Amino acid sequence: MADLHVFQPVNLDDILEGAFRFGGETWALLTAGDEEKVNTMTVAWGGLVYVWEKTCAIVYVRESRYTKEFIDKQKKFSLSFLNHSEYRGLKKYLGTVSGRDEDKIEKAGLHVNYFEDIPFIDEADNVIACKVLYKQLMKEENFVNGRLIADHYAKGDYHWIYIAEIKQVMIR
Ligand SMILES: Cc1cc2nc3c(=O)[nH]c(=O)nc-3n(C[C@H](O)[C@H](O)[C@H](O)COP(=O)(O)O)c2cc1C
Repeated sequence: MADLHVFQPVNLDDILEGAFRFGGETWALLTAGDEEKVNTMTVAWGGLVYVWEKTCAIVYVRESRYTKEFIDKQKKFSLSFLNHSEYRGLKKYLGTVSGRDEDKIEKAGLHVNYFEDIPFIDEADNVIACKVLYKQLMKEENFVNGRLIADHYAKGDYHWIYIAEIKQVMIR
């Protein structure tokens, strides 16, 4: 019998690297809009995926988010990664207040910059500018594990899955 390799269990968090990690303590500002109006919101669910022969960004946006209206209109958005300790307070503010009620970007003291016509947050360290390729609403009947519905969708408001082509990655 062949000598097989020895495999050690590791924590996934210990082997995931890089500025564009999502989840856990890591978050980004999903920003969309045009030259007239731009909105941003905190996102923690998402990542980079390889599909259709390219590396794409994937994000999950609930139906109720104001930012969703801007994504759907422009079919473009950006992910801005800000220094987590410096902007810790903004993570909560931009992730609980809706842009329907106030101009969050102005109130947060942030500034909008553009890659071509894709708005992003100027204070970011890293930015991914994206163009939407595919979107799909999660549906109750598609959940294989029904507990997820009880845990996350007791009030409905399912997430839309957006898969977006990466047009530019930028580091300041
Ligand atoms: C840490 C954190 C992560 C979040 N991640 C997501 C996410 O991945 N998807 C989502 O739809 N909402 C997420 N939210 C909630 C939205 O950011 C929040 O509802 C926001 O107020 C929406 O703003 P808008 O109505 O201006 O779009 C998150 C909130 C926080 C605080």
